[in-house]
Amino acid sequence: MIGIFDSGLGGLTVARAIMTELAGYDIIYFGDTARTPYGTKSPGTVVKYAMQNTGFLLEKGARIIVMACNTASSVATETIGASFDEPVFEVITPAVDLATARSRTGTIGVIGTRATINSNVYEKKILERRPDARVYSRACPLLVPLVEEGWLKKPETRMIVKKYLHPLKTRQVDTLILGCTHYPILKDIIGQKIGKRVTVIDSSTAVANEVKRFITENPQIDSCLSKNGKARFFVSDITDRFRATAQLILKNRIVLEHVPW
Ligand code: DGL
Repeated sequence: MIGIFDSGLGGLTVARAIMTELAGYDIIYFGDTARTPYGTKSPGTVVKYAMQNTGFLLEKGARIIVMACNTASSVATETIGASFDEPVFEVITPAVDLATARSRTGTIGVIGTRATINSNVYEKKILERRPDARVYSRACPLLVPLVEEGWLKKPETRMIVKKYLHPLKTRQVDTLILGCTHYPILKDIIGQKIGKRVTVIDSSTAVANEVKRFITENPQIDSCLSKNGKARFFVSDITDRFRATAQLILKNRIVLEHVPW
């Protein structure tokens, strides 16, 4: 199984891409809904949660882990990589690769949770690839709760997105990285507010393709992955709201299983 985790709904955007690019491979998803959001927590706490989530998915039979959470990816990649033998994928590098390849002017905007933006990991990775780049980052802490609440089309959500994006618009970014896996769920609003001349980068398909490439290049790992087209969804707190928004994202009915932490 391919194990995927996030603090809640956001990682489903990555799960959806993996189910499309790797159709037939079994996946197991964990959304840590009892402890969401991660983006307002300290790095130490997020590392602790990421370790527990990874351990849980491996215990359930995952053979590959995808941290479908920028916050966890920005602070926990090293620790997770050093603590487990299984291959672990993060969502930041694929987004940076896409953005640095696509930006014409090198003026790149990044939006993410407070923890992700404070980690500076995007800026560091962008400048490693394009030392000429100018990176403008903005933490958007209200967006994750709005998505978790299912406020996907409300005028208040539009207004908040507009306010967050204003400074990046002023800087004339030509590329905007959605540095949080919850944000693709608001991609239409974000696209409208940042303007159609800006390329909006969502790394979910790039991450799925990276996993696919890895599996193709490592047949011994591919042979350990079950392929019955099954998907299991675990959460640490079951709510009707989560189920409804998850079904909207996946365009499918799902059964939620509870993990009592
Ligand atoms: N979707 C996650 C991310 O990509 C987590 C957001 C949160 O829990 O604050 O950062």
